[in-house]
Amino acid sequence: MAKVTIDGTEVEVQDGINVIEAAKAVDVHVPHFCYHPSLTVVGQCRMCLVEVEGMPKLQAGCSTNVRDGMKIWVWNEKVEKARQGQMEFLLINHPLDCPICDKAGECPLQDYSFNYGTVESRYGEVKRTYPGMDRTPIGPHVLQNMNRCIHCTRCIRFCQEITGTSELAFFKRGASTEVGVFPGTPIDNWMSACVTDLCPTGALTTREFRFESRVWNLESTESVCNGCDVG
Ligand code: SF4
Ligand code: SF4
Ligand code: FES
Repeated sequence: MAKVTIDGTEVEVQDGINVIEAAKAVDVHVPHFCYHPSLTVVGQCRMCLVEVEGMPKLQAGCSTNVRDGMKIWVWNEKVEKARQGQMEFLLINHPLDCPICDKAGECPLQDYSFNYGTVESRYGEVKRTYPGMDRTPIGPHVLQNMNRCIHCTRCIRFCQEITGTSELAFFKRGASTEVGVFPGTPIDNWMSACVTDLCPTGALTTREFRFESRVWNLESTESVCNGCDVG
């Protein structure tokens, strides 16, 4: 076990877990996009930056493992400034689609934008868009809007590491990088629609649910799934 201090609260956590998981022990949420506990850590969205005593630069909470005696700040001025900058950067090219986006109401990007973003952007240039890629069916259940993608690679890693089918990949380079399927290989595995849950934006949505309802109008109820014998 490791004794760490997170935002001034001392807590004992399992040695070697990352800062995002350790912070949960004191009910502190570390904002993150690319990290998911069931997938490998890639540390590429930089949303999870935290300050660690003794380290000159902010550290990525997903790829920093705790050690005994560590002092971590998830919320202080330096971290919040970095977080705000990262949100501004991610939103530079993001469309103002929330009113027509199926993810609205359950979208981490939207929530973080409200909570940690700024009202105004300093970016005055033309936004990057992906012409013709705003409603692409990439599988029987999945529709893609590349303009909303923040390149977190969760969907790609899910298909590599969980289903083992690897239908999705990055194509092109730099600012033009796209997520897509290989020609003639739609994303059609037995859990393909899960990528729409996993995606932290409305870049991937389910074709069946498209424009059916706003999520805040839905009600949850106990039920059994008849998709397989697990129930
Ligand atoms: S992905 Fe999220 S932030 Fe972007 S348009 Fe959809 S709801 Fe809004
Ligand atoms: S489509 Fe969604 S999950 Fe995939 S890289 Fe883009 S934002 Fe991430
Ligand atoms: S969650 Fe840590 S860099 Fe993306």
